[in-house]
Order: sequence, then structure tokens, then C-alpha cells
Amino acid sequence: MRVRLIDLEAQHAALLPALREAFERVATTARFVGGPEVEALESELGARLGAPHVVGCGSGTDALMLALLAVGLRPGDEVVVPALSFFATAGAVSLLGGIPIFADVDPRTLGLDPTSAAERAASCSRLRAVLPVHLYGGVTELDPLRAIAADRGAALIEDAAQALGARYADGRAVGSAVSDAACFSFYPTKNLGALGEAGCVATADPERAQRLRRLRNHGSDGAYRHREVGWNARLDALQAAWLRVKLTHFDEWGRLRRPNAGEYDRRFCDLGAGPAGSRPEDHTLPVTLPQRPAAQGLHTFHHYVIRVPAARRDALRDALDSAGVDTAVYYPGGLHRETCFEPLGQATLSLPETERACLEIVALPVHPGLQARDRDRVVDAIAQFFLR
Ligand SMILES: Cc1ncc(COP(=O)(O)O)c(C=O)c1O
Repeated sequence: MRVRLIDLEAQHAALLPALREAFERVATTARFVGGPEVEALESELGARLGAPHVVGCGSGTDALMLALLAVGLRPGDEVVVPALSFFATAGAVSLLGGIPIFADVDPRTLGLDPTSAAERAASCSRLRAVLPVHLYGGVTELDPLRAIAADRGAALIEDAAQALGARYADGRAVGSAVSDAACFSFYPTKNLGALGEAGCVATADPERAQRLRRLRNHGSDGAYRHREVGWNARLDALQAAWLRVKLTHFDEWGRLRRPNAGEYDRRFCDLGAGPAGSRPEDHTLPVTLPQRPAAQGLHTFHHYVIRVPAARRDALRDALDSAGVDTAVYYPGGLHRETCFEPLGQATLSLPETERACLEIVALPVHPGLQARDRDRVVDAIAQFFLR
């Protein structure tokens, strides 16, 4: 049996009766878009996050686009984003006619580096927002980024697509409305995954929440009157109903993920790995551990990502593959170098930490169904590769 990166089949098999019951509930009431299931999910998420308003929507990408429009993004406005993220972080800005301004990441946290963000913001004439990403479910510290945004009259939006369940260092939940808007994805492979596409935006501002609700419905408050142009970014009731089933298991899944990460940390340390931010080649086991959760609050370990010497990363992945272990690289290249962003003229920017990370990172299986024997296989295969 392979050690898989994600095991949704096993998760769903255990939930099938409750998922069927939710399906029948929605099919019977025939409210398929919005309605009571969506409202219930929004209020359950709001209670969990400590966010006054949660607006469900069609995907994490919709969430980003809705949030950007709700803070007033106009074509030609600039948004500082980290170059290490899933494409949608920058794609959402670009689709709305905005200009993603790529900044580097902090090598210890792999979150948006405040020094680089400040430099890049200083080059902007129309800065509308700073958009950090809580990458892999770790937490990017917001205070310095908030200061950069506030200084320029810009908004702070969090891409929390991978970070439902994470906590800032002060204990508050990511999404508890400490920024202007926090955007979540419920893509099936996320820690809380729909059986299709879904997302939400959390915010403290009631007017912004109202605007988000309007924008997700073609800019209409109802009755076919349109105050502004939005699109269909609504959330399906079926997805909401299924997410509500899964939400009741979410804490338990988090409790299972973290010890997997903790055990990896312990075993890699015993074998001579180094802390996040150091260079993998400097250690007996040429591996550095993921971002440091203790200094950053609570990590969700959406992904457990180690770093290894760039020259040996692909051979390590091949060796793990042969040992029956699935791995992935999130993400293989900086967004500033994506072909579609070439016209922005940022491809030649030097963002050394992003570029180095893209060559060194490897995600290992960390899902809640992982067994101790699976972890042993992963660690043993890595030790065998580097130390034999
Ligand atoms: C960091 C990040 N931002 C945005 C998104 C977009 O979310 P979705 O796939 O739900 O549109 C994702 C999810 O894939 C993501 O990981």
C-alpha cells in the first residue's frame, strides 16, 4: 500500500451515512443555492473563527476576488503578494485588472517578508492592498504588514485558503477579522474540503459583508436591481450541507494531523535535521524542518513541507516514489516568473528566498489517516536516501 499525500476515500467512507442524510435534506427542501444550509454554515464558521461576518462563496478564488473588490480594487491598482503561493493569489488580482506586485518570502516562515513587502510597496503609486498568504497552514505575522498597508491607506487581506484552524501567536483564530478580510478555500483537498468547489470570506465590517453578499450575486441585493457589477460567486446548498457534516469532525482531524507533524519533527531532529530558515546542507541529515509553529501560533499542517538540498530534491522524490511514498512540490516556481505575468515586467526581479525555496521544498504525507507505520516508512526512506 502506498503512503498517499491525501486520503479522501477513507475520510468519506466513514462519513457516508451523514453525507447521504445531508444530501436528502437538501434534495427534499429544494433550496439548492444559498438558503438555510448556507446561512447555517456561515454562522457556524463565524462562531468558530470569532468573525462577526462570514460570506460563503463559490471557491477560494471567488473569495479573493470578492474581497479585493470589497476593499475598492479598481483596474490599475496594485496589490503586494508573495511570489510563493498557489496561482490564485495573484490570478485573482490580475483577473480584476489589478497588478500583482511580487515580493519575497521570509525563509523561516515562507510567508510574505515584511522587508521585501515594504520595498515593493514603496515602488507602487496605486497600492490598494497587501495580501499575505498563510502558506501550508502556518501563520504569517500580520502586524508589520498591517503597518505597511496602513501607511499607504491600503487594505490588508489574508489569503487563508490553507489555514482554517490556524491561530495567530496571540491565540486568536486566523480569520477572526484582524484584517480587512480573510479568504478561505474549501477545495476538496483542503483540511475542510467540500465535495466540489466552495469558499468563504470572513470580515468584521458589516458594510463590507453586505457588499460581499451583493457582489457574489451579480451585484444585486435582490429583486433584479444591480447597484454594481458582480458575478455568480454563490455557494451551493449541497456543498454547505456537506461542509457542515465535515465541520463536526474538523477539530478531531486537526488533532490527528499535528502529532503526525510532531513525530516527523522529532524523528528528523534525532537524525540530525536543522531548524526552518537554516540551510539543509549544513546538517547531518540535510533536511530543514517546516516553518516554526511555536513562534507563529498554531499551524494546521495543511502541508508538512521540509527543505532539502536543491541538487538532490528530485532524486529524493524518485527514491520516495520507489519506496511507495507520495510527495509533492508546492510550488515549483515563483509566481513572478509565470508566463502569463511576463507583460508585468517582474520576471527578472530577484526574489532569492522564493527562488531557493521552490527548488528545495518537498511536501510529505501528513493527513489525519496516516498511521505510525506510514510515518516510519517516510522517515526511513529519507534517512536511507541521505545517510546510507
Ligand atoms: C493559497 C491559496 N490561495 C487560493 C486558493 C484558491 O482556492 P480555490 O481552489 O478554492 O479557488 C488556493 C487553493 O487551491 C490556495 O491554496
